[in-house]
Amino acid sequence: MSDLLRGKLVVGNWKMNGGGAANAVLLAGVVAGWQARADREVVVCVPFPYLAQARDALAATPIAWGAQDVSGHAAGAHTGQVSAGMLAEFGCRYVLVGHSERRQECGETDAVVAAKAVAARREGLIPVVCVGETLAERDAGQWQAVVTRQVDAVVQRLGADSARAVLAYEPVWAIGTGRTATPQQAQEVHAHLRALLCSAGGPEVPMLYGGSVKAANAGALFAQADVDGALVGGASLDAAEFLAIAGA
Ligand code: 13P
Repeated sequence: MSDLLRGKLVVGNWKMNGGGAANAVLLAGVVAGWQARADREVVVCVPFPYLAQARDALAATPIAWGAQDVSGHAAGAHTGQVSAGMLAEFGCRYVLVGHSERRQECGETDAVVAAKAVAARREGLIPVVCVGETLAERDAGQWQAVVTRQVDAVVQRLGADSARAVLAYEPVWAIGTGRTATPQQAQEVHAHLRALLCSAGGPEVPMLYGGSVKAANAGALFAQADVDGALVGGASLDAAEFLAIAGA
């Protein structure tokens, strides 16, 4: 993982978008337009039904792929859930954990998110743990308390294995709104999280910024000392735009 700290990690989150034909075009475009670079890791996280399509299209390419969620349970009576073991057996390398849309729409608590991160690590997957405050929390001056609580919950469960995780700071007010955090706002939060992990004796983990990242703002975000890459939503559905971010 320390390799990623020397370069940039760019993860596309397709969310609940796509379809067989559109995915084929998008994946082909990403493959055709990207050449391996030692200082970049490019990943796409796709809906479960399209994991096989991503695996086949991205085999023998420098682009990694993963899922958008994983169960905190290992196996058993959990209808509709997908275990980390299943994802690992399938060949996934990455999995998003605790995205704000899942925290909000599926009621995922910090404890649930931590259990998912632990389950992912147990199977060797790299969890991309998402944290971030709402607009109301930011306006109330609570962003530090919120992201600290969210990160603490995961790091306490993962312990030293946190070194094999990725953190993604995604302010909820910047997701899908076109309102990106300024590079300075992102840096301020990332520096806080870096210091938090250091003071806990924790490892250096890559920290991605997410929220309305586009080719036009990626360079300025990546220029920040503690921004190690991006988690890209809408713009990851356009191969040229996504690769322009990856190359920024
Ligand atoms: P947008 O890039 O569409 O704002 O989405 C960000 C996000 O939620 C990525 O996980």
